[in-house]
Amino acid sequence: MNKERQVAFRAALEAGSLIKERLGQITRIDYKGQFNLVTDVDKTSETLILDILKEAFPEDRILAEESGSIRSEGQRRWLIDPLDGTTNFAHGYPFFCVSIALEQNGQVALGVVYNPISDELFYAVRGEGAFLNDEKIHVSMVESINESLMATGFPPDTRHSPINNMSEFKTLTDMSHGVRRDGSAALDLCYVACGRIDAFWERKLAPWDVAAGSLIVEEAGGKVSNLEGDALDIDRGHILASNGLIHSQIIHVLHELKATREEISQS
Ligand code: IPD
Ligand code: CA
Ligand code: CA
Repeated sequence: MNKERQVAFRAALEAGSLIKERLGQITRIDYKGQFNLVTDVDKTSETLILDILKEAFPEDRILAEESGSIRSEGQRRWLIDPLDGTTNFAHGYPFFCVSIALEQNGQVALGVVYNPISDELFYAVRGEGAFLNDEKIHVSMVESINESLMATGFPPDTRHSPINNMSEFKTLTDMSHGVRRDGSAALDLCYVACGRIDAFWERKLAPWDVAAGSLIVEEAGGKVSNLEGDALDIDRGHILASNGLIHSQIIHVLHELKATREEISQS
């Protein structure tokens, strides 16, 4: 995995510096669908990453946010989010990253997430631990929701969906030290991995949002699952990541809220 890691580092660092140079200069925002923002920088960043990966690994499949699937054959698949946190970026709010993962035999084997503003490179190779700028990282030791800081996110269709994460947000905010909404799922996951927050949950994320970050959390000693506590399916994108110690407490809260919602809808 050494060559793969070096190539992913190069792609993430070059894309990150391209994004950083354009911060605060976006004059045109387009929409993918009704509410999902995209800028020319998302596309330029993706082209840069794809050129590097295709040249180094011409046999591999790629799933990239702006280009979709490239090649249908091949044992391995790269998952690329060329700019995670586009809404932040488009508004000049400096919290976003590049996320690159490599999946092998249906399992994420390598994850690289780069925040060009803080110059923080998070990465993990399966079985080898998780790192931030070459320092080993570990999830927090917080044992109770009451003493935790968490993060969540809201999908672009929140305003139209009855399952909009608002009751979960309110309940877990009231129970904890707070719930952040930082706007970059891949960075939220890395923040769980290095213990800056104790848990992160979100619905309806895409594979490129969660692939790299979920491996980084696991390799940092944390736990990743879907919102019922079962194995994460990156293609479905309902994710709970935590330090492991408060995982079942959060699953319990989410389960109770779901049961209440179902009771109300049946009455
Ligand atoms: C978004 C971010 C955000 C999450 C959204 C994602 P994008 O990705 O990860 O935190 O709440 O659901 O779509 O569009 O900025 O790459
Ligand atoms: Ca994203
Ligand atoms: Ca993106």
